[in-house]
Amino acid sequence: MKAKSLYERLGGYDGITAFVDDLLPRLQRDSQLGRFWQNRGDDGIAREKQLLIDFLCSSAGGPMYYSGRDMKTSHKGMKITESDWSVFLEHAAAPP
Ligand code: HEM
Repeated sequence: MKAKSLYERLGGYDGITAFVDDLLPRLQRDSQLGRFWQNRGDDGIAREKQLLIDFLCSSAGGPMYYSGRDMKTSHKGMKITESDWSVFLEHAAAPP
């Protein structure tokens, strides 16, 4: 029997979308990280959300094509600190 891909084990498109639906608003509300999303329009945030879903699906072995920019280019100049990164990881690892 063929081993299931990470994409399948994460619950496919719906599972990954549910993770992003839950994660992004928590990042935006966070007192330390909220600044990254301040003063951005709703459509920009919606576009970023879709790109994050596509990126995660495609990195996990799903069939979708990621059409966004690479991580280095898209986050360059944002001044994300080590401390921002640890806060991000706590949110990402928080149980649902
Ligand atoms: C502290 C950590 C992070 C912060 C503060 C952050 C913040 C942001 C912000 C503000 C944007 C919007 C950029 C724009 O529209 O110009 C963005 C884009 C994006 N981020 Fe992050 N991010 C973080 C970590 C991550 C991680 C770990 C991933 C992947 C697992 C990720 C994936 C993406 C993707 C796919 C985009 C869209 C790229 C594009 O516009 O082409 N980010 N991020």
